[in-house]
Amino acid sequence: MSLHAAESEKVVSAAIHEINHIATLPEVTLRIVELVEDPTATAQDLHRVIANDPALCSRILKVVNSAFYGLPGQIGSIERAIVLLGLNAVKNIAIAASLLKLYRAGDMGPHFKARDLWAHSVAAGAAGKMITDAIRTGMADEAFLAGLMHDIGVIVELQYDRDRFAQLIDELSIDEDGVPGRDMMELETRIFGATHQSFGRALCEKWKFPHSLAVSTGWHHNPLDLPEEGRMLACIVHIADKLAGDLGVGFRLDQTDLEISDDVLDVLALPREKLQEIAEALPEMQSEVRTLLS
Ligand SMILES: [Fe+2]
Repeated sequence: MSLHAAESEKVVSAAIHEINHIATLPEVTLRIVELVEDPTATAQDLHRVIANDPALCSRILKVVNSAFYGLPGQIGSIERAIVLLGLNAVKNIAIAASLLKLYRAGDMGPHFKARDLWAHSVAAGAAGKMITDAIRTGMADEAFLAGLMHDIGVIVELQYDRDRFAQLIDELSIDEDGVPGRDMMELETRIFGATHQSFGRALCEKWKFPHSLAVSTGWHHNPLDLPEEGRMLACIVHIADKLAGDLGVGFRLDQTDLEISDDVLDVLALPREKLQEIAEALPEMQSEVRTLLS
């Protein structure tokens, strides 16, 4: 590890330690994450955990009956919802509900509102799911969660050190269209000693999320820096992030350039025409998901 990387890791673990009080998922969510990772767990086990949380039950039913999943007919029971959606999708709904609380964390001057970052994250989650549906990888649930999580490191920064975060937002020189005049990761490195990618990756690890998710969060701006065999999800999130940025909803402070390179599209074998179709369908999908998760 280079000296710089070692220094950055030190900052990251200090931050994650410091924000311990916010960096926890509710008991029921943690239990669900654990269960879904356990190969011996069954749908009944999951049902038993969820049944204790009426708010979560009604949220799951709302999602399963939405256009997001496009399932035929009305589904009225949690057991049936678990069977139809699968364990992973149910886990994601629980995580999304917990994350929403973190994104109420607050505002910082006129240029940063946590709920704008939430809107952006939801759009990236929806875009991630649409991309995986388009390339038929069967990773739609994972891509949705990866999109939802990708900028969580920004919330870590905000919680960890509000003064430095204020300085970051200030130095970004945001214009009246909300577009930053400077490179966010360069500034983060100077001001915090680490970037939101590293803070986010560390939080994914702390929450014991699948390794692929920590990786996609940690490399969503530079997925091609990853070894070839492990860059697929990060490439999906990279594209989803830019599509979400292009929508103009919420936050795009970490992006000065929304161009998607051919090299990234090639990793997914995603043709530009398909990308265009996704971009066109995204506004409706993101507002649908946003309603579901609000
Ligand atoms: Fe980012």
